[in-house]
Amino acid sequence: MKISSGLTKAINDQIAMEANASNNYLAMACWCQINGYEESGNFFFTQSAEERTHMMKFVTFLSGQGVKPVIPSTKQPSQSFKSLESICKTALKNEQAVTKSIQKIAELALKQKDFATRNFIQWFVDEQIEEEQKFETILQKFDLLGRDKLAIYEINKLLGSSASSTEE
Ligand SMILES: [Fe+2]
Ligand SMILES: [Fe+2]
Repeated sequence: MKISSGLTKAINDQIAMEANASNNYLAMACWCQINGYEESGNFFFTQSAEERTHMMKFVTFLSGQGVKPVIPSTKQPSQSFKSLESICKTALKNEQAVTKSIQKIAELALKQKDFATRNFIQWFVDEQIEEEQKFETILQKFDLLGRDKLAIYEINKLLGSSASSTEE
């Protein structure tokens, strides 16, 4: 069964979303490094690389079926941020938007009885639970530890240690 044009479009949109996510995290990583939060910088560099592998999974999924993927142009990401907390809030909001988009693909695949795509997208459904949890957990730390300089520095280190424990 060939993938439908509707699903192809949805996956091409997802390729663009993952590419933009990768760039957003790259901008966040640079802000962190420049402002003395090296550990958070490393975390966001890793996040950026992960989003690129997500993009590649969608690219190879389409090309593997003989469909040419659309390699997207990307939006210039915002590079001015208020604080480490505001970065994490933006990241959570972006991940929630990605989750919605992934769920739409799953829904469409199910509706069209395209079980290959439905099966393929399940990895992303699971991944998004982790992605949202990552930022919910770190945002919780601001409430628990506070927002004075020392607390933020500690949270920065916590973010750094979660970078080394994440995969793909
Ligand atoms: Fe992603
Ligand atoms: Fe993500």
